[in-house]
Amino acid sequence: MPPLGLTTLLNVPRSSLPRHVAMIMDGNGRWAKQRGRPRVFGHKYGAERVREIVEQAGQWGIEVLTLYAFSDENWNRPLDEVGVIMHLLEHYLRKERDELNRQNVQFRVIGDLSRLSPSLRKLIAETKELLSANSGLILNVAISYGARAEITRAMKMIASEVAAGRISKEQIDQQLVSSFLDTAGLPDPDLVIRTSGELRISNFLLWQSAYSEFYFAPVMWPDFTRDEFAKAIQHFGSRERRFGMTSAQVAQANSDSSTSVEGLRTC
Ligand code: FPP
Repeated sequence: MPPLGLTTLLNVPRSSLPRHVAMIMDGNGRWAKQRGRPRVFGHKYGAERVREIVEQAGQWGIEVLTLYAFSDENWNRPLDEVGVIMHLLEHYLRKERDELNRQNVQFRVIGDLSRLSPSLRKLIAETKELLSANSGLILNVAISYGARAEITRAMKMIASEVAAGRISKEQIDQQLVSSFLDTAGLPDPDLVIRTSGELRISNFLLWQSAYSEFYFAPVMWPDFTRDEFAKAIQHFGSRERRFGMTSAQVAQANSDSSTSVEGLRTC
């Protein structure tokens, strides 16, 4: 594993960098199995890889990095595996928060935190507080997260607001729905990366990824190096994002200084 502190050079103009990269860190178990080791060995290496990828994302100037660390469905795994992943999350936050602070990283968490242990919840709150004055990369970790559950929570909150007369039915639009999701205030992911070669979305950011580009890395998460990350960003830089329009319309919008393609994210 390369030492921390290195930057992989990126052959992509700044304007082609994704603002928000979301990652499905898949393949820890298979990586360990290939080496004749227990699954948790893969998670341990996976947590090490997180440090490197977070640092690299900040160095490249990516604004938001969302990491899918533990899904709603992952609660159904064997108890000891769940325990190890929760322990690794605690260990990561305790060990890395000062370094994250030094790197000017901000911290957010999405998901149903009510299912987490009080000690992990406390650590999350403390880490948020410690990093709250920072202005760099937003590290957004999805823990106990499922997109369907997130959308259901948002629908219930909106229904309560309507019932209380604070919102009218007519005011419900896509922007309002977004503002009730866990990711409120964050840009939608421009790029979703999944490692391990599996071609699935696995209940991750279903609403937010409506116009994301997808990149499926052939390597398992513990092998997802800075160079692999650079390949994904370079691939993103080569994509034409049309947001439902034609190529000619996109070219026109890009040449018109008063309109940007960003402003055309509608249907
Ligand atoms: C998916 O691989 C990975 C997970 C469910 C856990 C991810 C957790 C970490 C990388 C460690 C802690 C995270 C942070 C943010 C510090 P899998 O077990 O589904 O692999 P498989 O598909 O090969 O079985």
